[in-house]
Amino acid sequence: MTSTYPLENKVAVITGASRGIGRAIAEVLAHQGADVVCGDRLDKQAEETASQIAAATGRRTSGCLVDVADHASTKNFIECAIEEFGKVDILVNNAGITRDNLLLRIDEPDWDVVLNVNLKGAYNCCKAVLRPMMKQRYGRIVNITSVVGLSGNAGQTNYAASKAGLIGFTKSLAKEVGSRNITVNAVAPGYITTVLTDVLSEEYKQAAIKATPMGRLGTPEDIAHAVAFLVSDQASFITGQVLSVDGGMVMM
Ligand SMILES: NC(=O)c1ccc[n+]([C@@H]2O[C@H](COP(=O)([O-])OP(=O)(O)OC[C@H]3O[C@@H](n4cnc5c(N)ncnc54)[C@H](O)[C@@H]3O)[C@@H](O)[C@H]2O)c1
Repeated sequence: MTSTYPLENKVAVITGASRGIGRAIAEVLAHQGADVVCGDRLDKQAEETASQIAAATGRRTSGCLVDVADHASTKNFIECAIEEFGKVDILVNNAGITRDNLLLRIDEPDWDVVLNVNLKGAYNCCKAVLRPMMKQRYGRIVNITSVVGLSGNAGQTNYAASKAGLIGFTKSLAKEVGSRNITVNAVAPGYITTVLTDVLSEEYKQAAIKATPMGRLGTPEDIAHAVAFLVSDQASFITGQVLSVDGGMVMM
């Protein structure tokens, strides 16, 4: 893999990095030269992913347990990353879940858990990492939202609310920390082939492909390369933006 956006001497923390989009982001950032910390509630898989990435890239990596919905767990995770690697330059809030249903059938636990992981998780991680980033006067934060947060989707009120909330969060935080040389952006994936979308019926997938001008589902690497650009020095004048990586599915 070529180093289009060099990230040497940078430390990147990626949540939900044991598989899918998070894993691809960790892989691509490591290939660009960053040391990476892979956080996930599946700690064994996170450790395995981290050591595979180290073997493939020669970068320093670490796989750690974190439940992003839990404030104390997240604080501890970021503190451990700083202790082990000395700093955090890049934070990618990628961990996310779905509990799809029509609103009439979404009960309170399924509402709360989606909002707590997808939206409060980003709050928890940013809160833990922001002061050190402000001190070092450098930071790159990318929040993984979704096209659904832009367009809405029947059966996903909880998920869409969390992802739309993440967009408002991104823009507001970007305004708060721009003067400290910290950028905050969001990437909005379309339909990407991962465990999260494996559960969708073949009929649903075909409909998604039909609604996508580029005529295919996305890959985790499609998202990872967009993130690699946004966290690079070349993107230092880009903040508060939502970059859709969806094959043209939702054009705002
Ligand atoms: N796959 C898609 O089509 C698609 C589309 C739009 C947005 N997204 C977003 O991209 C992100 C990654 O999705 P994916 O498709 O790779 O899903 P995935 O289910 O394959 O991976 C999500 C990862 O997050 C981890 N995770 C879940 N809850 C966690 C928690 N509380 N704390 C820490 N880690 C946790 C999981 O263990 C898993 O490793 C999510 O935020 C998702 O909403 C995905």
